[in-house]
Amino acid sequence: MRPNPVFTSWPAKASALWNNQPIRLEHRLHQTPLFSREGLAELISRYPREHYSLVYMGAQGEAKRFWREGEIGSLSGAQVIDAIAQGRMWLNLRNITDVDPRYREMLDETFAELSERIPGFEAPTRSAGILISSPSAQVYYHTDLPGQCLWQISGRKRVHVYPASAPFVTPQHLEDIAVHDVEVNMPYDPWYEEHAQAYDLEPGQMLSWPLNAPHRVENLNTLNISMTVSFVTEDIRRRQMVNLANGILRHRFGVSSVGRATEGPAFWSKAVLQKVMRQTGWAKRKRREGRQIDFRLDDQRLGEIVDLKAA
Ligand SMILES: [Fe+2]
Repeated sequence: MRPNPVFTSWPAKASALWNNQPIRLEHRLHQTPLFSREGLAELISRYPREHYSLVYMGAQGEAKRFWREGEIGSLSGAQVIDAIAQGRMWLNLRNITDVDPRYREMLDETFAELSERIPGFEAPTRSAGILISSPSAQVYYHTDLPGQCLWQISGRKRVHVYPASAPFVTPQHLEDIAVHDVEVNMPYDPWYEEHAQAYDLEPGQMLSWPLNAPHRVENLNTLNISMTVSFVTEDIRRRQMVNLANGILRHRFGVSSVGRATEGPAFWSKAVLQKVMRQTGWAKRKRREGRQIDFRLDDQRLGEIVDLKAA
């Protein structure tokens, strides 16, 4: 085994459970300088605008879903963290592995270790983001198209994971996400909770779950810093092409009840279709319709926001 493994313990069952069932494991990343408060403040201060998302949300238990996107404005990185500690929002430093090579190196090391521990696991495409979220923040019920896992750095949160099957998630949900790039419009019913598994995460723990398993997250009254990791294996890559092609067939051409094979002639025609439509910009246009920036952080009252009125 490697000299300084990222996973500080690895029970034998973990290799068998990975991607088949949710599993919580122990890691040491929260102790690295990459995730110190000063290191993160410095990172936020210089983070490129196009690579972060700042989201303001409704209170826990509020019936109406409420989700707005905004920008940091003139605050320093340290002030942004303070604002998040006092407000009700989250900041996602997306693509940290593209923005700063130190995080790329850390993630490559982590995946090399995973490939050694899990027979046959290869994820040539992987990226990470850092998520900083308010004590009362929540992420609504949704699913993600790539493989995902969540690494807790600071604070405590509860992750509810649902089965990766109907009615919790259907092919049509995945296709809609592929076309619109918005993950939170999935139907949800309170009785889904009877089928959920809940995991509390402390600093130094991570959670992995099966591909496309829906989940939602509640912070447990502490400022939270987590790392979100996405990965794409060859199988996931093909499924993503099918999701986008099927979504295009349904939304653009009104064709439904198409198959979901990830090999053979039907798959390869879809591979061509989704590529052509991506090149024409159709999928991009549909995606842009989903997002709009409408606030910035208030630099006088930390934790508050200022509306950006349409000009
Ligand atoms: Fe997610």
